[in-house]
Amino acid sequence: MNKDLDHLMQLRAEAQLGGGQERIDKLHAKGRMTARERINLLLDPGSFEEFDMFKTHRCRDFGMEGKVFPGDGVVTGYGTVDGRLVYVYAQDPTVLGGSLSETIAEKICKVMDLAVKNGAPIIGLNDSGGARIQEGIESLAGYSDIFLRNVMASGVVPQISAIFGPCAGGAVYSPALTDFVAMVKNNSYMFLTGPKVVKSVTHEDVTVEELGGADMHSSRSGVSDYAAESGMDCVQYVKKLLSYLPQNNVETPPMVPTLDPSERRAEELNTLIPDSASTAYDMQEVILATIDNRDFFEIKRAFAPNLIIGFARYSGTVVGIVANQPSHLSGVLDIDSSIKGARFVRFCDCFNIPVVTFVDVPGFLPGTVQEYGGAIRNGAKILYAYAEATIPKITVITRKAYGGAYCVMSSKHLRGDINYAWPCAEIAVMGSKGAVEVLYGRIAKESADPAAFLAEKEAEYQEAVANPYVAARRGYVDDIIEPARTRFRIIKALGMLKDKRDSNPMKKHGNIPL
Ligand code: HXC
Repeated sequence: MNKDLDHLMQLRAEAQLGGGQERIDKLHAKGRMTARERINLLLDPGSFEEFDMFKTHRCRDFGMEGKVFPGDGVVTGYGTVDGRLVYVYAQDPTVLGGSLSETIAEKICKVMDLAVKNGAPIIGLNDSGGARIQEGIESLAGYSDIFLRNVMASGVVPQISAIFGPCAGGAVYSPALTDFVAMVKNNSYMFLTGPKVVKSVTHEDVTVEELGGADMHSSRSGVSDYAAESGMDCVQYVKKLLSYLPQNNVETPPMVPTLDPSERRAEELNTLIPDSASTAYDMQEVILATIDNRDFFEIKRAFAPNLIIGFARYSGTVVGIVANQPSHLSGVLDIDSSIKGARFVRFCDCFNIPVVTFVDVPGFLPGTVQEYGGAIRNGAKILYAYAEATIPKITVITRKAYGGAYCVMSSKHLRGDINYAWPCAEIAVMGSKGAVEVLYGRIAKESADPAAFLAEKEAEYQEAVANPYVAARRGYVDDIIEPARTRFRIIKALGMLKDKRDSNPMKKHGNIPL
């Protein structure tokens, strides 16, 4: 027995080394962690249970019989984060660049299937050179098996991807299908084809960082939700993100009791809105002043910053926050912000997370760039997302809610449950200046003093239409509230809506404008 045990221990020790000590040393020299080190950082100490440590690839072509490593290029299993069950896989770049073999796909699919059956999040720690070239079709088949499971798990359990190293080819599509992606700056890359292929096809000279670095994907493409400063920072991000999520689509996120009083007033909000409608202010101040302990977990901060999204708590209840940001492009809705908001609202709806929306929006961004880019089709996404969502939806209009953007931003008409406005809110088809130019432009030219005439008409329009009382008289806003009491009013509304039940007509699925 002792001999057998010794043998087992020896095999385990070998498997722990992945592609070997030399490759581990090289990885460490680049400031990167091994797959097991990443898992150990993520999971509660001692909670990791590993599967398939002895599983190996079956390829015998291209000299692969001499490149067999126990466990192949991925470490899989389950454990806990803050005491809650998660399934995890970590690709091992020391084994053939973390490239994906048929065997690796089988290992990943096994934990994905368990995650769905047992209703717990699946977290992928990615670092892979894509399809294992020596295997060919087996590797492609393996990728397809993973993609199918990503799609089947979507909206059933949260799926999170952390990107720690280069991810090329097929290695980027599975993360793209998951709910959240975090990347490590200067160490991780995501691209379909590397700079050499780009050069040969499009003749562009581009570095890996420019083509698929963490900063690029977190600010321009929107593929990544967060650009982490280090591997450690990336793991901390994933852990904090998990704290806001339920385990699956039939649970709600954990309540976190708070000492922050629900009746706490935020006096500064009574004077936050500038007198001039064209002067910016920072919507972050509204969010921070109203949520528990000013603790806001922002997502996609650098992508489409004219719309803020993220998680927070009100009296312990997790909510998704969506807010126009007047201090960036006046908070206008454009293609990127519409997509950003739509995907987030849909995530919250999948996982029973109420959405609180703060509105200050002058409308949709006009122009050829937007129209040619499909502003109509893309703007429709956020409209669709709010309309189909059946979670509790609370809306606070802080200043402007103009035109189509009024309709879109969780209005009463899209089944907004509770819609409040601050006294300075302006709810109208468009701003006063634009409106009087359309209505009185021609007549103004014929008057003795066109500028004075238009100014007078603008004041009249502002007085008559651009205020919250017209909407309040129709019941489109439920109340006009004192800004300082916003936190309390949101908490009361969330409590009232906590058992909300709503549904959509039976259908296979809707057809969101993609
Ligand atoms: C087999 C691979 C591999 C791969 C790397 N290796 N990628 N083996 N298949 N896809 C091996 C290398 O041969 C090398 O083996 C070891 O891994 C380490 O690779 P290095 O290049 O020395 O490491 P590094 O400099 O860190 O670069 C890592 C890398 C680079 C950026 C991932 O290797 C790379 O660019 N690989 C190819 C990426 C790619 O084009 N993938 C697309 C595949 S097609 P030895 O034995 O020398 O140590 C695809 C299509 C799927 O994925 C589509 C599905 C929808």
